[in-house]
Amino acid sequence: MPHTLPTVGPRARWALAAGAVAVAGGAWWYGDKAPYPYAQRRLLDVQLPFLTARRLDDVLRPRPGERVLEVGPGTGLQSLHVAPQLGPGGRLDVLDVQPEMLDHVMRRAERHGLDNITPTRADARELPFPDGAFDAMYLVTALGEIPEPGRALAEAVRVLAPGGRLVVGEFFDRHWIPFGRLHRLADEAGLHLGTRQGAPFAYLARFHPCPSYSART
Ligand SMILES: C[S@@+](CC[C@H](N)C(=O)[O-])C[C@H]1O[C@@H](n2cnc3c(N)ncnc32)[C@H](O)[C@@H]1O
Repeated sequence: MPHTLPTVGPRARWALAAGAVAVAGGAWWYGDKAPYPYAQRRLLDVQLPFLTARRLDDVLRPRPGERVLEVGPGTGLQSLHVAPQLGPGGRLDVLDVQPEMLDHVMRRAERHGLDNITPTRADARELPFPDGAFDAMYLVTALGEIPEPGRALAEAVRVLAPGGRLVVGEFFDRHWIPFGRLHRLADEAGLHLGTRQGAPFAYLARFHPCPSYSART
């Protein structure tokens, strides 16, 4: 008796195609780690709910004279707000993998008359700074874009001074790190939670390096 292949009707074909698109879309949503495209920079100037400048102040508490590191400044929405609070005796280092973002921040800083911002092009997984160089460090909607966020957190621990502060802001987009995962990664890196504000889909959390801790490998 000849074998016949089962026939697939048009509705089943549409369902299969939709399933394939959904799988591909899901893989992209969860797997893509490309940095935020500079071409879409205008969206970065929008303050996100629960991640506003005032809320960042509440959690980061920048003070005059401090040296602070911002990783992934994008177009400088937070940089232009934090740098003036550090005063002439303080300094904000902004570090990004994309030179276009850094150039953009520095153009805006110049227009605002800010001369205490220093740009560095580098990857957050290998920070080109000595141990204990910073009083505080922050990343807003940037940690999830870094391919190995645990390595970036370990580097944060290294470059923070004893008693330093690390603030992470995350928002529900395709690079989102849910708070539970962040808390686990922070724990592995040797950071303990100070405070957390916001909502499950948009939060700011402050961590501190645990005294005399060596990261688990
Ligand atoms: C979504 S933008 C956030 C910009 C800004 N913090 C804001 O909230 O508007 C993420 C930024 O992280 C930077 N970035 C991505 N991967 C990075 C890495 N491995 N090291 C340093 N910066 C990185 C991107 O270039 C981009 O500027």
